[in-house]
Amino acid sequence: MQRAKSPRRTPSPAAWLGLTALATLGFQAPAMAQNHGEELTYTGGVGRIINENCVVCHREGGIGPMQFESYEQVQPWAPLMSLRVANREMPPYAYDQHIGIQDLQGDWRLSQEEIDAIVGWAAAGAPLGDADVSVPTPDFPAPDEWTFAAEYGQPDLIVPSSPYDIPATGNDLWSKEFVSTGLTEDRCIKAVQVKPRGDAAAVVHHANSILYLPDENGELQRHAQLTEYAMGKWGEIPGDGVCRTLPAEAMIQWDIHMFPGGVGATAKGEMIKDNVVEIGLWFHEPGYEKQAGVFQQDLQAYQMREGYQNGQFIIPPHGTAMTQGFHSFDHPVRIDSFQPHGHLRMRAASLEIYYPETGRLEQISQISNWSATWHHSHLYDRDAAPLLPAGAVLVIKQWYDNTADNPNNPDPDQWVYDGSRTGDEMSHAWIAVTHLDEERYEQLLAERMQASN
Ligand code: HEC
Repeated sequence: MQRAKSPRRTPSPAAWLGLTALATLGFQAPAMAQNHGEELTYTGGVGRIINENCVVCHREGGIGPMQFESYEQVQPWAPLMSLRVANREMPPYAYDQHIGIQDLQGDWRLSQEEIDAIVGWAAAGAPLGDADVSVPTPDFPAPDEWTFAAEYGQPDLIVPSSPYDIPATGNDLWSKEFVSTGLTEDRCIKAVQVKPRGDAAAVVHHANSILYLPDENGELQRHAQLTEYAMGKWGEIPGDGVCRTLPAEAMIQWDIHMFPGGVGATAKGEMIKDNVVEIGLWFHEPGYEKQAGVFQQDLQAYQMREGYQNGQFIIPPHGTAMTQGFHSFDHPVRIDSFQPHGHLRMRAASLEIYYPETGRLEQISQISNWSATWHHSHLYDRDAAPLLPAGAVLVIKQWYDNTADNPNNPDPDQWVYDGSRTGDEMSHAWIAVTHLDEERYEQLLAERMQASN
């Protein structure tokens, strides 16, 4: 299968927030970095890279531990910034270069030219440049604002959890409860975001929301997964041409996992009062699912059980482990997103597709430097999202490291088992799948062929 590669620049966090204004500012970093004669300065280009890619988190009230809103704030951090961007640890979006699909929506990675510009500038002593030139700052939404507000406005429906106090220290906590959506007709979800309110962002490890519907006796039965939040995740867009249904009368079961003191000690010594997690939902117009060319999409957790011993996942002290899972469909599908899930010992994940008819194994995504602090749902661009014929096999793999070499490992002397506590491990990946029929599949394939010619 041919994949069309688009040469356009990677969208920054700012662009992801719908802030396209910067595109019109004539951003010149790539050319500047190649021009060795020209000096790399803050006002001459580096400031723009930082404003566009870092300030959304590194600002007053943002989730970053320090602010990068002015030259005075940035300058002392230049050496550490250089290190973090050179290692591709900042902006936080781990996804391997040069392996599998690189056309992603909401991809925060810097281009190599931008990295080189920051590294070169820091090495030169982080000069200011022309002090009379001001570096434009994008007009960011408030830190507690919905990710998609700039594009879609306020959510059509907000479903909050009940307030819950989280102590400063102690063991993991879970809160499970049912809340009503109050919805009286089926709706197709256009976008969804789960957002801890305020300080809760530091301690909410993940929050699952599961849809339940009453059966004929009025008893609630599990219907489907609604969405899934894990620390650092910004939301999901099922996209046009698909319907992820929120059924009328649905109840949502919250399953919120909290970690006192914060994951990676991001909220050490802080008691979080009245912790609330909210789901914001934006809908397509009523009846969208009946429109021609609209197919059902669902988000499911795909398990990896190969590598388990007698049904249990065990990682010995100072040991490593690998798990695998295989899944296929009896109809054609399109894979719209991929989000691996594990905890502190997980280090890497990959997605491949095996085509039994040809024996070919295709690499789709690889994340070699995975960290539990940041969970991204990698959203494939529509014209790059894998199209699978019936019978093709998803091959999902995850790698775990319980040695002292793993910087996230709190204690390599522990036996680690599968379980839902932060110190336990998990082995599954969230994958959004659009279920096609043969006709639509052939049509999409033909469109791809045409586009790549
Ligand atoms: C999505 C939010 C986000 C974005 C975007 C972001 N950061 Fe960060 N940054 C954080 C958070 C949270 C931390 C603290 C936790 C961590 O280190 O992972 C951090 C930590 C850092 C640190 C301190 C590392 C240390 O060792 O103490 C540096 C330096 C840094 N970021 C630089 C950058 C630069 C440069 C950019 C842009 C190119 C950037 N960040 C973009 C959220 C972000």
